[in-house]
Amino acid sequence: MIRKMLELKNVTKIYNEGSAREVVALKDVDLTIYEGEMVALMGPSGSGKSTMLNVIGGLTPVTSGRIYIAGEDVTEYTDEQRAILRRDKIGYIFQHFNLLDYLTAEQNVMLPLLIQGYTFEYSKRRAIMLLRELGLGGRTEHYPNELSGGQEQRVAISRSLITRPAIILGDEPTGDLDLESSQDVMRLFRRINREEKQTLLLVTHSEYIGSLCDRIVRIDDGQIVEEGGAKE
Ligand SMILES: Nc1ncnc2c1ncn2[C@@H]1O[C@H](COP(=O)(O)OP(=O)(O)OP(=O)(O)O)[C@@H](O)[C@H]1O
Ligand SMILES: [Mg+2]
Repeated sequence: MIRKMLELKNVTKIYNEGSAREVVALKDVDLTIYEGEMVALMGPSGSGKSTMLNVIGGLTPVTSGRIYIAGEDVTEYTDEQRAILRRDKIGYIFQHFNLLDYLTAEQNVMLPLLIQGYTFEYSKRRAIMLLRELGLGGRTEHYPNELSGGQEQRVAISRSLITRPAIILGDEPTGDLDLESSQDVMRLFRRINREEKQTLLLVTHSEYIGSLCDRIVRIDDGQIVEEGGAKE
């Protein structure tokens, strides 16, 4: 049987509840994603995609409902438990990447592995391998301000993959990339998905990127309007 990797049950997220600026960003969302699935999350601007990733990643609390990761209820995790979960299980690719300016591309990518206690040599080898796979073999010694936006995005993607997290949450990971770089990124995602059974949830506005995933989940105005049929 295929394991449930991510499960949202009746998840509602209301920002600024009770104030004039109240926004219901997620309404009673039910969604199950199985281990080893590569799922696209699509929907109009403001429909709740980033909010969904943020509640899954524990960056913002839900208003009601439950969230399960690998069968464990993480809804009421403490900040410390959430930090450990993110460090060990979840790779988060932000809509706006945040590289450290004073580190080179290679050093940015290595950092999460060094923090986990891996050796310098091993971390460096893996960092260079990932950067090469995304067409940045010639940019490993460059600093973020010496890179283009799309190159920075690919460095950020390499950094989020280097620890081999079980779940990868990507908020428009290919949003700033041209077709060729997008295809490199999607090939890399597919490779780790096949080889390491990593589960991916990728926000995209591109039907083409969506078509490269196993299924497309569509959200509109905080509600899931199409689930794409999970493989069971
Ligand atoms: N921190 C916040 N405080 C209040 N409202 C918010 C906050 N973040 C998002 N919202 C609102 O919640 C709704 C969903 O926003 P969200 O960022 O999840 O949309 P999205 O689908 O990711 O859009 P986009 O494609 O433009 O990135 C929007 O109406 C937005 O204005
Ligand atoms: Mg967004």
